[in-house]
Amino acid sequence: MSSVKIREFNLSIDGPETAKLYRACFYENPWYEKFAEGEIEAMFTEMMSYRGLSCLVAENAGQIVGGTAGFDLSCKKDVLDLLDQEISHVFYMAELFVSSNYRRAGIAEALVRARFDWARILGYSIGVVRTSIQQSIIIEMYYRRGFTVVATQDVVSDKWIAGTIQRVPDTRVIMKGKF
Ligand SMILES: CC(C)(COP(=O)(O)OP(=O)(O)OC[C@H]1O[C@@H](n2cnc3c(N)ncnc32)[C@H](O)[C@@H]1OP(=O)(O)O)[C@@H](O)C(=O)NCCC(=O)NCCS
Repeated sequence: MSSVKIREFNLSIDGPETAKLYRACFYENPWYEKFAEGEIEAMFTEMMSYRGLSCLVAENAGQIVGGTAGFDLSCKKDVLDLLDQEISHVFYMAELFVSSNYRRAGIAEALVRARFDWARILGYSIGVVRTSIQQSIIIEMYYRRGFTVVATQDVVSDKWIAGTIQRVPDTRVIMKGKF
């Protein structure tokens, strides 16, 4: 972790490498997701216009080994709809992923810390994050920061398991807390 640097994401320079890493990380349990050609790149491009955006990467010896994003919750309508509609000026912590070769070295922790710092700088005092009920690493990371589960969402998604696509139910948890 000592040589890993957290820095701002640059779409034109980092886009392709970060998209490749994103695909690999979300092809894993519990997500098993496959994305269409150009889908991640389009998602990154759209995100660039989001209010309050913080998009960060973790870099080691010139290689991107992790990434994260966060922005104003008003840009994430489907999560906003699950919460109290009165809620405003809330920071939504979106993506978080670390290369399987660099796990358990505190990179996700460092990215989350940097995202919290950014949110505080922008004057946010409340944060929201969504993950799968099966992604205990993330749930634990936020419990430790005092976040609690404020809503759940039952979803059915297409997952690529053992080479075949399957419609699998999952429960997403939405956690809220203070910075
Ligand atoms: C979840 C993920 C980002 C964690 O990245 P990471 O850099 O390995 O995490 P860190 O090293 O910062 O560890 C954070 C905490 O989680 C714990 N942790 C990490 N991986 C773990 C594992 N496989 N099993 C148990 N605990 C684990 C760490 O021990 C650490 O707690 P500690 O401070 O008590 O030691 C990474 O596994 C990943 O990219 N997964 C696939 C994508 C994904 O699910 N992203 C989350 C979407 S909501």
